[in-house]
Amino acid sequence: MKSTDTGQLNRREFNCFCVALGSLATVSGAAVVAAGDAAAADAPRMVKFPDGTVVPALGQGSAGLGKGRHPAPVEEEALRTGLSLGMTLIDTAEVYGSEEFIGRAIAGQRGGVFLVSKVWPNHVAGDGIARACEASLKRLGTDYLDLYLLHWPNGVTNLAAVVTGFESLRAAGKIRAWGVSNFSVSQLEGLLRIPRGDHCATNQVPYSIADRGIEHDMLPWCERHAMPVMAYSPLGGAGSNLLRDATLARVGAAHGCSAAAVALAWTIRSGHVIAIPESGSVAHVKENAIALSLTLTPQELAALDAVHPPPRR
Ligand SMILES: NC(=O)c1ccc[n+]([C@@H]2O[C@H](COP(=O)([O-])OP(=O)(O)OC[C@H]3O[C@@H](n4cnc5c(N)ncnc54)[C@H](OP(=O)(O)O)[C@@H]3O)[C@@H](O)[C@H]2O)c1
Repeated sequence: MKSTDTGQLNRREFNCFCVALGSLATVSGAAVVAAGDAAAADAPRMVKFPDGTVVPALGQGSAGLGKGRHPAPVEEEALRTGLSLGMTLIDTAEVYGSEEFIGRAIAGQRGGVFLVSKVWPNHVAGDGIARACEASLKRLGTDYLDLYLLHWPNGVTNLAAVVTGFESLRAAGKIRAWGVSNFSVSQLEGLLRIPRGDHCATNQVPYSIADRGIEHDMLPWCERHAMPVMAYSPLGGAGSNLLRDATLARVGAAHGCSAAAVALAWTIRSGHVIAIPESGSVAHVKENAIALSLTLTPQELAALDAVHPPPRR
């Protein structure tokens, strides 16, 4: 599949792509958007990993799912709605307690999902990564992960052994790619000095219009290394005031969408960022999916910059 420099397919490319591949398809094993959906069908923003795998720029988080915040059937429907609207990347972790919930929600459509899980740093010693991965696969009801991340660098004393563990899982077909989470730029540079450390596919870090710190160093570094960033808490996290922001609401009104959709469109605007908002609400997921095909104008971006300025150097 061909994509533009910004990571966004044009309408013709997307239509050809859907016709060729049917309503839910994979590219290099990556889940891609569903055809025929009005929100997603208008040039959905896509992001390319270093190995050429292409995924939608908007996925779905799950740290708080499966815990009774909403009724379980409602959350399952929300997750499946997200899949049908093109948010086919799902983020979980062994510590979230959501893997079994996700396994149930994606049953029968594993091939259309790009599944991401994470290993906790306390579990990486010895053959810990292999055991943690096996346990995650069992809970998720699958035999491979599309992407496996080291959840935090803290407490990891032998990063080279972690890389070796990830590479062994990749060779065994248990994972298709690996990456890290919550790494600083200097920690990423250390990773690249380790043999095969440059196979790292991504760094998952907090990023939203209310938390622009990574624009200072991380985003430029990742762009230089052709490494997409995964943005967690892109709506500011649970209980955030961000979605009450008047400028987001005003921009949303101009596009006929919600403040949340604007915040997400802003987060994924570069084509180098994959945002993973979490929602257990069908209505919220529908609002969020609009961001896949929402392009903000330079004037709107400037208005948002005025209220949420980028970090100072
Ligand atoms: N790697 C890490 O260390 C790390 C850390 C934190 C998070 N994460 C990942 O990132 C994901 C997302 O982060 P997050 O949960 O912290 O923050 P978030 O996605 O920014 O915010 C989630 C909150 O926003 C609400 N929400 C979602 N869509 C909405 C909408 N359209 N309108 C109003 N409210 C909406 C959700 O409630 P409803 O369910 O009611 O919609 C939920 O309370 C997590 O689930 C997890 O997968 C990773």
